[in-house]
Amino acid sequence: MKVVVTGGAGFIGSNFIRHVLRAHADDSVVNLDKLTYAGNPANLADVGHDPRYTFVHGDIADAKLVRDIAAGADAIVNLAAETHVDRSLMEPDAFLRTDVFGVFTLLEAVRELRIPRFLHVSTDEVYGSVATGSSRETDPVAPRNPYSASKAGGDLLALSYFHTHRVPVVITRSSNNFGPYQYPEKVIPLFITNALEDTPLPLYGDGRNVRDWLYVVDNCEAIDVVLRRGADGEIYNIGGGNEVENIALTHDILRLTGKPRTLITPVKDRPGHDRRYSLDCAKIRDLGWAPRHEFAASLASTVEWYRSRVDWWRPLKSGEFRAYYERQYGAR
Ligand code: NAD
Ligand code: TYD
Repeated sequence: MKVVVTGGAGFIGSNFIRHVLRAHADDSVVNLDKLTYAGNPANLADVGHDPRYTFVHGDIADAKLVRDIAAGADAIVNLAAETHVDRSLMEPDAFLRTDVFGVFTLLEAVRELRIPRFLHVSTDEVYGSVATGSSRETDPVAPRNPYSASKAGGDLLALSYFHTHRVPVVITRSSNNFGPYQYPEKVIPLFITNALEDTPLPLYGDGRNVRDWLYVVDNCEAIDVVLRRGADGEIYNIGGGNEVENIALTHDILRLTGKPRTLITPVKDRPGHDRRYSLDCAKIRDLGWAPRHEFAASLASTVEWYRSRVDWWRPLKSGEFRAYYERQYGAR
């Protein structure tokens, strides 16, 4: 299979490319990535010399480039996106450009070139905050911030291309991922690296918000299952089954890093902060997937990864990140 992966220099994309090259000896991968602040070629340093892997620097919203790259592909897996909720509150433009218009550009190429599969990676955040129970794929979307609204826009556009043009779309909606190579703006790598540096852990609001944590390798395996066995026009939820309050997660990270709870610094809440996400994953279980990694062990191995890869994350926490961090947390 010739697979075009977009956003492959990011967190999930780089783990996904590594998974595909390991699991499928006959596959080749073209990685189209714009290398925004979140894209990092170092995430794929270990596959750079694999003859089955090609990197192309570019934007998914560039119609000509997308068509050139996608010609002859068996599938496009779209992981390119602006992904951080806090940034979407400050600078939503890029979210609309990439998460909506970029998806449109890819869909047009899939339609014109008759590519047999378009897998669009989305998020549980499109269902909005869920007070009780768990979201099913048939539930309406109810996004409440510019990130999740732009992701929902991309999802709806993709489904509209299935219904109107029979473009072979499948969508995955996963819960919060964690693991190696996650940019240190997201809560788990931020808190691990801050703890390792003995700097405060800025906990939003009352710390009682709930996220369902999914180890990134499990998500990559699920995306691969949907890519090969999912039905056209369908959505598949992918959850880890690990619903944890942020305060409990923070205590776990401090225990694993051996740092004191005095590092926890309550800060002003994120505006419109969704309280809880929760996914019903019966549908993808019917495709034969279940998460293989236990939460406590995966969190421990993730902490060890960041402890051993200071060379990877320390450069990321200077420059652009420093300016973002000051802006995001400075006034709180
Ligand atoms: P990330 O922010 O780590 O990486 C995004 C990648 O996309 C980067 O390499 C960036 O350079 C690239 N990119 C951004 N705009 C681009 C453009 N216009 N053209 C080409 N490349 C572009 O993101 P991630 O956490 O790996 O998320 C990947 C996908 O998974 C996203 O669609 C996100 O919405 C979804 N998702 C993520 C999570 C999570 O917990 N991280 C959970 C559910 C869903
Ligand atoms: P995040 O990693 O930004 O993912 P998302 O908002 O997409 O779920 O945040 C996860 C949870 O952690 C969320 O409830 C917000 C909270 N959080 C903090 O308390 N402090 C922080 O500095 C960050 C980045 C997040």
